[in-house]
Amino acid sequence: MNKTFPNSFMFGGAIAANQAEGAFDKDGKGLSTADIQPYLPGVSKTELHFNNMDSKTLEKYIQGDYYYPKRAGVHFYERYQEYIDALAAMHCQTLRLSIAWTRIFPNGDESTPNEEGLKFYDQLFDYMHKKGIEPIVTINHYELPLNLVQNYGGWYNHKLIDLFVRYSEIILKRYHEKVKYWIVINQINLIHFEAFASLGILMDKVDNYEQAKYQAVHHQFVASARVTKYAHQLDPSLKMGVMLADSLSDPMTPSPEDTLLTFKRNRLQYYFGDVAIRGKYPQFILNYFKDNNIKLDIKNGELDELKDNTADFLCVSYYYTNTIDANKDSMDPSTVENNPYIKANEWGWGINPNGLYIRISSYWDRYHLPMMIGENGFGYDDVLTDDQKIHDDYRIDYTSKHLQSLLRAINDGADIFAYCSWGPFDIISAGTSEMSKRYGFIYVDYDNFGKGSGKLIPKDSFDWYKEVIDTRGASL
Ligand code: BG6
Repeated sequence: MNKTFPNSFMFGGAIAANQAEGAFDKDGKGLSTADIQPYLPGVSKTELHFNNMDSKTLEKYIQGDYYYPKRAGVHFYERYQEYIDALAAMHCQTLRLSIAWTRIFPNGDESTPNEEGLKFYDQLFDYMHKKGIEPIVTINHYELPLNLVQNYGGWYNHKLIDLFVRYSEIILKRYHEKVKYWIVINQINLIHFEAFASLGILMDKVDNYEQAKYQAVHHQFVASARVTKYAHQLDPSLKMGVMLADSLSDPMTPSPEDTLLTFKRNRLQYYFGDVAIRGKYPQFILNYFKDNNIKLDIKNGELDELKDNTADFLCVSYYYTNTIDANKDSMDPSTVENNPYIKANEWGWGINPNGLYIRISSYWDRYHLPMMIGENGFGYDDVLTDDQKIHDDYRIDYTSKHLQSLLRAINDGADIFAYCSWGPFDIISAGTSEMSKRYGFIYVDYDNFGKGSGKLIPKDSFDWYKEVIDTRGASL
C-alpha cells in the first residue's frame, strides 16, 4: 500500500464564479440566475428554496426587496490576487473555477463577446500560472444568463445548444494555451436538487416538467459533445470532462424492496455518466422514459454526436450519503432518507468517508476513465475567536478521512489525478446563499449580509492541508 499520492496528483481547491467573484454588474457583465438568488434569513437550512421555480416566484425574486449575496460574492473579481496568493501560500497546485457566461455574453445571445470580461480571465489565469496554480475551468457552473430563462425557457429550448457552443468556442479559443482541463457543465446529473440553477426551466411554462428536465439535459449532452469535438479539433492536448454530483444511495435495510429500489434509483444516476462517457443512452433509461411517458425529441444525427465525442475524464463531487427506504421513497430522486448510522452536519449532510471510497471505486470499475474529485468539503458556521483564530478540527477530521478514502481507491488501481476541496477560502453557499456555511481552510471575514473587514485568516486546517500537500499525503 502506498502511503502517498502519486507525484503527478494535484491537490487544490474549487470555487464557482457566481459564489466568489461578485462585481455582478461591472465591466459589462449581465444578470445571471445566481444574481437574483436572495438570502432568506428565516428559511430552514435544509429547504431548497431556489430549486423548482415558477414565473411568479422568479418575478418576486427579481423585483423583491432582498439582499442578494452573490452580487458581491467575496469580491474575488477585485481581490483575486490576494486569494491566489493565499492559496499559493498553502502550496495548492490547482484551482478549479468557472467562467461566468454573463461576463462574456451578458445576455447569452449577443453576436460578439464582451472584451472586458475576456480580459479579466486572461489576467486571472496568467496570475495563477505565475503562482504555480493550474486552472481547471468549468464552462457553466449555475450561472445561466437570466435572459435565457426569461426569453428562451432555459435549456429546454433547443437553441440553447448553439448559444452555449458559441460561448464555449470563444473561451476555448482564447484560453486553450492557459487552460488544459475543462469541465463542460457543473454536476450535469443534478436536475432534481438543483433544477433551476442547472436548467433554468420555469415549471409553469412547460406541460410536463419531468419530461422537460430530461429534454433539457439531452440538450446539455449534445452541447457537451459539440464543445468536446471543437476543443479536440482546436487543440488535441485539451482534456474535456463531464461532471457528476455523486448521488448514489445505500439501501436503508437489506430488505429485497429497499435493495431493488436503491438499485433502480442508482441506475437513474448512472445514466448521466453512461451517456457522456459511453456515448449512448442505456436501455434501462429508455425503458424508464417509456414507462413514465417521457418522450425525448432527439434530432437527426444527435445520437451519433454523442457517440463520437465522449468525455476524456470524469469529475465527481462528493459530500455526503443518504439511504433509500422503499416504504417511504420512490423513483423520484428527491426522495431520500438520512442514514441512521452516520452523523449529519447542520444542513443535514450525512458524513461518510467510506462512501467516497466505495463510490469512486464504483465509477472506476464502470468507466475506467481518469477521474478527479471536483468538490468535497465540510460546511460549518466557524467561530472566529477573540485572538482571530478558527479551530476547525472537525474540518481536518472530515478532509483527512476523505483523502484517506481516496488514497485507498488509488491504491486499488483507480486513476485519479486531482483533489479539489470545495471553497478553499470561504465563499457564498450555492444552496442557501449564506456566507455562514463555510468550507474554507481560509476564513473570509464577511457575514451573511456582506458586512465585515474582508480579512483572510488562515484556519487551523490551513497548516494541516499545507502539510498534507508538502508530504503528498504521508502526514494523513
Ligand atoms: C455543489 C455545487 O453541489 O455543492 C457548489 O456545485 C456548491 O456550487 C456545493 O457550493 C456546496 O453546496 P452549498 O449549498 O453548501 O454551497
